[in-house]
Amino acid sequence: MRAGNASLHWPLAQLQPSVAVLGGDAHVEVLPEIDSTNSELMRRARSGDTRPCVLVAEYQSAGRGRQGRSWLGERADALTFSVGLMLAPPDWSGLSLAVGVCVAEELDPQRNFGLGLKWPNDIWMGAPTAPRKLAGTLIETVWVQGDNAASRYTVIGIGINVHPPHSSDLGIPAAGLSQCLGQDLLPADVLLTVLPSLLSGIKRFEAQGFAPFQAAFAQWDVLKGQTLRLSDGREGMGCGVDKGGVLQIDTPAGRVAVSSDEVSVRLAAGVT
Ligand code: BTN
Repeated sequence: MRAGNASLHWPLAQLQPSVAVLGGDAHVEVLPEIDSTNSELMRRARSGDTRPCVLVAEYQSAGRGRQGRSWLGERADALTFSVGLMLAPPDWSGLSLAVGVCVAEELDPQRNFGLGLKWPNDIWMGAPTAPRKLAGTLIETVWVQGDNAASRYTVIGIGINVHPPHSSDLGIPAAGLSQCLGQDLLPADVLLTVLPSLLSGIKRFEAQGFAPFQAAFAQWDVLKGQTLRLSDGREGMGCGVDKGGVLQIDTPAGRVAVSSDEVSVRLAAGVT
């Protein structure tokens, strides 16, 4: 059943116990509409509210993706939410990869549906031959005055297409989880599925960094063994990621480590 404009049901009582892993003052909140759940949690943090929060929006009027792109999703067609919390990991690198591992493992636990992780922040299906984007992550941080330098309010925004959007500004065709899994889902079903392991994964990342996620990431890595093209023109073969989540590419000039957000990576033969 597509929810359309009907009221969406959010099982807050079922969600609250998993949010408690973030601390006693953590809460989950659902808004019918906001510009962007990331923007809202960043605004709240800047005005002093740094409580751990899972903020869900039924509709975002100005959802944001990485590299200045928009995230477009109609009501009931996408799960859009952000997790905001103070975070102080030993090393920040690989956070988006760890988040991707946690979400993918819950969406496709038996690895039946052809889901994969595209470094650094996407969940794809159908890669490498017919890749379509299912989900993306946008991580932003706010320095909070008075806090120690290692700790930042961190906003981890996730958008998961439950049905493919009518249009997309994501540079790759979009997929929907309902079609992929062969069952008609609501955004709340997807949130219930992914939230517990996502939140405990974020806490594990805070304690141990990316290292405990490296082997799992390798299982989902759609760029490994593929010919890749970097936005700066270099080409080479994807060789996985190191223990900090840094992408390794073998090029004719030797191995290149890609960690910069300013360099985008595409499948040389793909649609992107
Ligand atoms: C990307 O693919 O470039 C990242 C997309 C991230 C979208 C999510 S939806 C919830 C949160 N709020 C936003 O404005 N963006 C993220």
